[in-house]
Parts: sequence; C-alpha cells; structure tokens
Amino acid sequence: MTVTISAVVAMSENNCIGKNNDLPWHIPADLKRFKSLTTGKPVIMGRKTFDSIFERLGKPLPNRTNIVVTRQNIQIPGVIVCHDIESAVEQASAIAARDEDSGNEIIIGGGAEIYKQALPFTDNIYLTRVHQDVDGDAWFPEIKDTEWQIADTAEFDAADGQHPAYSYSSLSRK
Ligand SMILES: NC(=O)c1ccc[n+]([C@@H]2O[C@H](COP(=O)([O-])OP(=O)(O)OC[C@H]3O[C@@H](n4cnc5c(N)ncnc54)[C@H](OP(=O)(O)O)[C@@H]3O)[C@@H](O)[C@H]2O)c1
Repeated sequence: MTVTISAVVAMSENNCIGKNNDLPWHIPADLKRFKSLTTGKPVIMGRKTFDSIFERLGKPLPNRTNIVVTRQNIQIPGVIVCHDIESAVEQASAIAARDEDSGNEIIIGGGAEIYKQALPFTDNIYLTRVHQDVDGDAWFPEIKDTEWQIADTAEFDAADGQHPAYSYSSLSRK
C-alpha cells in the first residue's frame, strides 16, 4: 500500500509560519481547512507545535492520530510520542496504510523544524499563502519552482481589521 505524505501549512509572503509559538494571524476559514484536510489522518507535529495546539484546545487534535516528535523522554496521554522523524513517519504510514478513512495519507503538521526535516520526502503541500510579510520567528523552507508544481489556487479577500487576504494552493512534487 502506497502512503502519501502531505504537509499542511499556512505561511506569509516571506515564508513566516509562526511567532511566539503561535500562528501570526487568525483566519477561521483556514483553521477549518486544516481540520478538513487532516481529520481521520495521522498528523505528525513537533513538540512545540503540539504545546501550542494543546494551549489553544486543551486537548490533542480530535479525530486524528496525533504523533508528537520530541527528544525528551515524556509520555503524553492520547498521543503517540516518537523520538525521531523517521519513526514518526514509519508509525504514521503503518496507521494510514491499514486505515481506509485516512485516504492512505499522512500529514506533516509542522512546525518549522519538522517541515524542514520532512520536506525532502514530502509528496504534496497544501499551502495557504497569507498575503503579507510577517516579522516572526518560525519559517518554512524555500519552495523551489524547479521541484514543485502548483495547482488549484483560490484567492480570498481580507476581512477588515481581522486578517489579510490569502490563497489556497495544492503543490505536488515534480
Ligand atoms: N503556519 C502553520 O501552518 C504552522 C503549522 C504548525 C506550526 N506552526 C508554528 O511553528 C512554530 C513552531 O515551530 P518550531 O520549529 O519552533 O517547533 P516544532 O517544529 O513544532 O517543534 C520543535 C521540537 O520538536 C522536537 N524535534 C524536532 N526535530 C526532532 C528530531 N529530529 N527528533 C526528535 N525531536 C525533534 C523537539 O522537541 P523537544 O524540545 O521536546 O525535544 C523540538 O524542540 C509555532 O510558532 C507554531 O505556531 C505554524
């Protein structure tokens, strides 16, 4: 069974994805998109991203297998803890391969450290491009035109005083 590895990310025009261990913007529709792209699938995330999600929700992401990568010897209730990316991908792939509801897809859910390490073997990127420059502290690696093909771009307007304009695209590895 072939498993697809897909990253889901929202980033600014200057590739910023985070600030102070949180998202630099609040775009409710994009949070819904994240939910719909990831529900039923194993989601791999770094420990800092998990902390940020836990702070917001008070629990792991519901209706998804949460796989948290950390170097610490910790256990987190309701979560699979892995100590390197390779074993996280191996466990996620085994789950996705046997679970039809996953669409045989695993999700790379960030943050910066995890995207960087996983990008070389990522097949697809579900990209939200937030049309502003952000002075943050977490970044997505450069997406090279020579490596990625962009399809299905949809544009959305800014909401006055709430969030900037943004777009959704799907990228697949050439
Ligand atoms: N815009 C988006 O779509 C998006 C999505 C997700 C996250 N974010 C943002 O990204 C930021 C967090 O990114 P980040 O780079 O600071 O942190 P991160 O990637 O979420 O987590 C980093 C942590 O993961 C663990 N780790 C990383 N590589 C590892 C490896 N090879 N083996 C074992 N453990 C490993 C370490 O945990 P320990 O320290 O516990 O050892 C490390 O401190 C936040 O601002 C968050 O809001 C944005």
